[in-house]
Amino acid sequence: MAQGLDRAFALEAVRVTEAAAIAAAKQIGRGDEHAADHAAVEAMRAAFNILPIEGTVVIGEGERDEAPMLFIGEKVGAGGLAVDIALDPLEGTTLTAKALPNALAVMAMAEPGTLLNAPDTYMDKIAIGPGYKDSVIDLDADPADNIVSLANAKGVPPSEITALILDRPRHSAIIESVRKAGAAVRLITDGDVAGVIATTDPQTGIDIYLGQGGAPEGVLAAAALRCVGGQMQTRLVFRKPEERERAAKLGIADFDRKYALMDLVRGDVIFAATGVTDGSMLSGVHIEGEHILTESVVMRSATHTVRWIKGKHLRGHAG
Ligand code: FBP
Repeated sequence: MAQGLDRAFALEAVRVTEAAAIAAAKQIGRGDEHAADHAAVEAMRAAFNILPIEGTVVIGEGERDEAPMLFIGEKVGAGGLAVDIALDPLEGTTLTAKALPNALAVMAMAEPGTLLNAPDTYMDKIAIGPGYKDSVIDLDADPADNIVSLANAKGVPPSEITALILDRPRHSAIIESVRKAGAAVRLITDGDVAGVIATTDPQTGIDIYLGQGGAPEGVLAAAALRCVGGQMQTRLVFRKPEERERAAKLGIADFDRKYALMDLVRGDVIFAATGVTDGSMLSGVHIEGEHILTESVVMRSATHTVRWIKGKHLRGHAG
């Protein structure tokens, strides 16, 4: 199975995110989040449906009654290898509508039954990149203590640690605690899949990701971390009783459970992303004469292989 996932799909996976990114890119800077998302969803679905897979969407655009396409439980593919799929055709709808950096088309394919079937709720998250001993971070510890622990593990003073946090009022206590420990805070307006992945690349200068974002995005980010290494802990956040009901329907019994990386993505996984707008990890979609240029990354957990793929698509034949 692991071999099958790699051989047949590592490169095919990129076609899917490329198609979504190219479609979404037409909406960059146009102020219409819905149109951008819709274009990405349609294109991603069409790209999935020519792949030789029997795919089940487990992290998707929402429940069947609220999402007409790529809803949770939807079957995609032309038939073949059974895989579970987590996807976000446009991670950063607002970033795209406002032409801001780091919007991505993202998906992960995994062995059936190995991805956390996360409901569309919030999730508390903490993540660091590879190279540290276990237990450097703890979701339940004070953010300041996590900064000090990470600084010790890295062998630097806390003042040389940078934390990435979504700029939201709900994060004011976390931001204060991180700054009190002496670390710097870089705030982002959206896009915490890219935010978590930023911790794995020393060039970004980001050491740690903290805060509350979407649970589906948490599973996608975990898929990437399983491929490149790193640590992550999360917990689902329920604000309304209906959210607990939705989680229960997806098989979640322990609502307070702390999920480590291996609980979020338990088996072999392939992660692919294509840049929509320019970002720290990937360039966005650009037009050059008759061509559309894309940049993607595809990773596989079994071998930790990371492939960077630049695409040059003849306009009219893209996808
Ligand atoms: P969308 O692309 O669905 O708009 O998500 C963007 C995002 O910033 C995610 O990366 C993040 O997990 C979530 O929204 C945070 O939610 P909120 O905007 O409600 O704080």
